[in-house]
Parts: sequence; structure tokens; C-alpha cells
Amino acid sequence: MKTPSEGTAKQDAPKFLKALAGKAHKAPPMWLMRQAGRYLAEYREVRAHAGSFLNLCYNPTLAAEVTIQPIRRFGFDAAIIFSDILVVPHALGQHLEFREGEGPHLEPIKTIADLSKLSVSKAQSTFEIVYEAIHKAIAGLEGRAPLIGFCGAPWTVASYMVEGHGSSDYKAAKLLAYREPKTFGAILDLLVDASTAYLIGQANAGAHALQIFDSWAGALADNDFEAFVIEPTARLVKQVKAVHPHVPIIGFPRGSSPQYAEYVEKTGVDALGCDTAAPLNVMAQMQSKLTVQGNLDPLLLLAGGDAMERRVKSILDSLASKPYVFNLGHGILPETPVENVERLIRLVRAEA
Ligand code: CP3
Repeated sequence: MKTPSEGTAKQDAPKFLKALAGKAHKAPPMWLMRQAGRYLAEYREVRAHAGSFLNLCYNPTLAAEVTIQPIRRFGFDAAIIFSDILVVPHALGQHLEFREGEGPHLEPIKTIADLSKLSVSKAQSTFEIVYEAIHKAIAGLEGRAPLIGFCGAPWTVASYMVEGHGSSDYKAAKLLAYREPKTFGAILDLLVDASTAYLIGQANAGAHALQIFDSWAGALADNDFEAFVIEPTARLVKQVKAVHPHVPIIGFPRGSSPQYAEYVEKTGVDALGCDTAAPLNVMAQMQSKLTVQGNLDPLLLLAGGDAMERRVKSILDSLASKPYVFNLGHGILPETPVENVERLIRLVRAEA
């Protein structure tokens, strides 16, 4: 039976926000992490025009344009503002470069003196550029999809700030945390404050939901997980919720499925982003507490074919009867064929 609001689809809340609020959909809402990216020819064109990745992030008109591109092409159920988690340390005053084919490079923070050069007050003018991109993206979306704002979680961003680049063992970050706990704690505190201001600013600018990316959460367990992942994230969520209690927050503690229950209980997030290694039965268990999102392997989307189809079916069979948002378990890979994305959309929307 239809409720009165279902008859007037236009005024209805978007499917994505309903799912975050706890509604189940037979064909769940979907978006893809890194959906604006190099696998799209129209992104590559704008990116070439911008000259560099950071120029693109800091040009509100172009950032809004690439944010909208995947909605225009695929009709995804949510857009995510085009930016990067490393915009926060950059805005705080840390030197950042994206070298072609190498990924990000930051001038590493080694001492309290390095840290003392950074400040939240410096960050505001850079954050404003992102807020302007959000205004422009929302205007350009014309209600076709809600917009997600985001930041990196304190642990992941702190690790980049200390390592200076991606890492496989987080050696510099962990050694600083173990040898100089006060310095590492001060970096986390600075990031909690900066990220609080940044997420509140994004919600003020109109972001309908927020995601906290903790890409490196899986490097930690027990006390360290509690101290570096849960505690700072819980503070961030609480401070944002004090100002924006109704803007849903998705936490994405990548690689942490053994700690999902603890993460959810203690951080206060509204939905849980799940990575490729999260077992479906663990995700299904979490659905008794909150909405889950994820976890198709980006390599299955790249491969396509029967392997992708089988996995999409088992994800939907396991999760779609409860509150669920279809997504990948990590960002889409640049070499992904667009046809595979189109096939995925038909499968999730049960049009295949
Ligand atoms: O999801 C989206 O479409 C929104 C935009 C977005 C980007 N990065 C754009 C981007 C988001 C949400 C991110 C998050 C991000 N950035 C994370 C967390 C998620 C994850 O992937 O684990 C991390 C760790 C970063 C840091 C980062 N940015 C790295 C390591 C790299 C280099 C790797 C790569 O893919 O090139 C980036 C660059 C980056 N961020 C690109 C995009 C589209 C590619 C840069 C380009 O176009 O040249």
C-alpha cells in the first residue's frame, strides 16, 4: 500500500537520505566512491583544462562541474563534492603537491615546532572555496541528487601529515604516536577542531549528508584503535551534531570490520561505510543498528562480467531487505570501463 507521500514523488525525500534515515529499498540507492574521476572522459577533459588536481579542487566552478558529471551521465542517487581529504592539512598551512602518477606529497610534520606553524584560523579562507563549490554544485544539481560533504578522519589525515605520502606500514606515524604521544595527540586535536569547522561549514553551505573517510583505520587494533580512530572520530561527530543534529554522518573505517560494532556504538555515526574485506554477514548484523553502505570490490567493477554479477546479486540478497546504500568498498579505479558501471547500475536497479 502506498503512503500519501509516495504518491507525490517530487516532494519526497531522496531515496539516499531515506536509506540513511533507516528505510529499506528493494532497489537500494547507489553512488560510487570517487565517482567523479579519471574513468570519465568528461572528467579528464575538465582536469586537463584545470592544469592540476589541486587547481581543480580550488576552482569552485570546475569542482562543481565534475561533481555533477556522474549524476548527469548515470543518474546516481547522491553526488559527493569534488575535493580531497588532504585539502584540510593544506588549508592549515602544510605544503602539499600532487605529482603526476605518484599521488600526494606533503612536507612531513616531525616536531611540535612544525605543528605550531599550522592553524585552524588560517584554514578558513581555503575552506570557503569548498563551500562555494558546494553552493554551485547544489544549484547545478537542481534537486536531481542530494550532495555529500566529507573530510578525512583525524587518524588517516594525521598519518598522511606525518608520513608525507601514502604508506604500507604507517611507520613514521606510529613511531611518532608511540615515541611522542603528546605531539601526535596535538596533531589529532588540531584535526578534530579543523574537521569540525570544515564539516559544519559544508553543512551550512547545504551539504545534505557527510562522510568521514578513515582509509587507514585498519592498521590499528584494541587500545590504539580506541585512542586514534574512535576517540577523535567520536569528538568530531559530537561537535558536528551539536550544530547539525539532522545531517546524517557516514563513517568509513576502512579495514576495520572486526571493530565495526565498537566503532558504531562509540562514534555515534548514522551509517557505516564498509570496505571490500567486510563479510556480508557482518554487514547484515550491523544493519540491526544502522544503515550500511558498500562493499563491492572496485576490481570486480573493473573486471565486470559474471564475477561482478554474482557478487552484486549476493550483496543485494544479503543486504537490500534492510537499510542499505549500494557503493564500492573503496574508490573506483581509473581504468574501469564505463560500460561496466552502466551494467552495475542496471543490476542494482533490477533492470538487467
Ligand atoms: O569520491 C569522490 O568522487 C569525491 C572526491 C574524492 C577524491 N579523493 C578525489 C580524488 C574523495 C572523497 C577523496 C578522498 C581521499 N583522498 C581519500 C580517502 C578515500 C580513499 O581513497 O581511501 C584519500 C586517502 C585521499 C588521498 C589521495 N588523493 C590519494 C592517495 C590520491 C592519489 C591516488 C590517485 O587515485 O591518484 C588522491 C588524488 C585524487 N583524489 C584523485 C581524485 C579524483 C585523482 C587525481 C587526479 O585526477 O589526477
